[in-house]
Amino acid sequence: MTATPKTEASGAASQTPRQPWGEHVTVAVEEGIAWITLNRPDKRNAINPGIVYEMVAVLDAMEEDDEVKALVVTGAGDSFSAGQDLKEYFRIPDAGPPLEREKLYRANAAWQWRRMMHFPKPTIAMVNGWCFGGAFQVLIGCDLAVAADEATFGLSEINWGIIPAGIVTKSVAEVMSQRDALYYIMTGETFDGKQARQMGLVNISVPREELRARTTALAETLKAKNPFVLRAAKTAYHHVKTMPWDSALDYLMAKSDHTKFRDPEQGDKAGMKQFLDDKSFRPGLQTYQRES
Ligand code: ACO
Repeated sequence: MTATPKTEASGAASQTPRQPWGEHVTVAVEEGIAWITLNRPDKRNAINPGIVYEMVAVLDAMEEDDEVKALVVTGAGDSFSAGQDLKEYFRIPDAGPPLEREKLYRANAAWQWRRMMHFPKPTIAMVNGWCFGGAFQVLIGCDLAVAADEATFGLSEINWGIIPAGIVTKSVAEVMSQRDALYYIMTGETFDGKQARQMGLVNISVPREELRARTTALAETLKAKNPFVLRAAKTAYHHVKTMPWDSALDYLMAKSDHTKFRDPEQGDKAGMKQFLDDKSFRPGLQTYQRES
């Protein structure tokens, strides 16, 4: 089904009106997977203010929608995204009121980085084609990534006289080796999906005709896991990355107790019973049988 854009929050007038979506971003929810498509194929899905503000609204709505168990972000046509829109994201706002520009940049960082990185449901970038500049942030903001072998990636900023900003350079430094990151930042050369896989920028690369099926299979795997624990595992990963070892150990033990205590389906007890008492599953090979 296609998720309906909401133009207003219902209820009290004091509630913040929701941004609509549907013009620059489309959403289709199929069997618990929300397919979120950046939808400016004529502009190779370059990220303009329309995409920024619609994505902020979409992510809020997807978090609240109980039907949605996993998100896939992709692009319409032959492009994932050609990065930030050079005209609508840079030239026009640069010439406009500074406050509007600040608001736009803040909203962009909000969805591409903070919101995506800590999104409470699993997220996958499905890189179907061109992926340049600011689109790396969308790609790395997702938990996992599947690319078409034929996709073309590039940190093209150097080619027209800027550095990979927003938070792109920081993100690239997190997932690529120093040699690879600096090579592509400094040369602006492109690489394909297979090379992206070899460098660890994406998890999987497949021929384009298999892209959707492989992405769906990955989303199905994630959907089958305990969602509360999946969220906690992802949150813990991001936090411990920058913690000293002693703090990380203490945090992880506390987070583990918290997760066991708060998990609505009490997965650890169910899993232990099925393995130790019922002998009905092997945790090394599959997910325990969830009741819901
Ligand atoms: N910003 C604004 N418009 C764009 C962008 C962009 N990033 N990318 C493509 N477009 C527009 C083009 O201006 C063109 O518009 P027009 O039809 O009105 O002339 C349309 O999209 C199609 O672009 P073409 O270049 O004709 O498409 P083609 O398929 O030949 O090439 C490619 C695609 C390689 C992606 C090329 O458009 C390109 O190099 N785009 C810029 C990529 C880039 O450097 N992005 C980084 C931006 S900086 C940043 O993100 C921080």
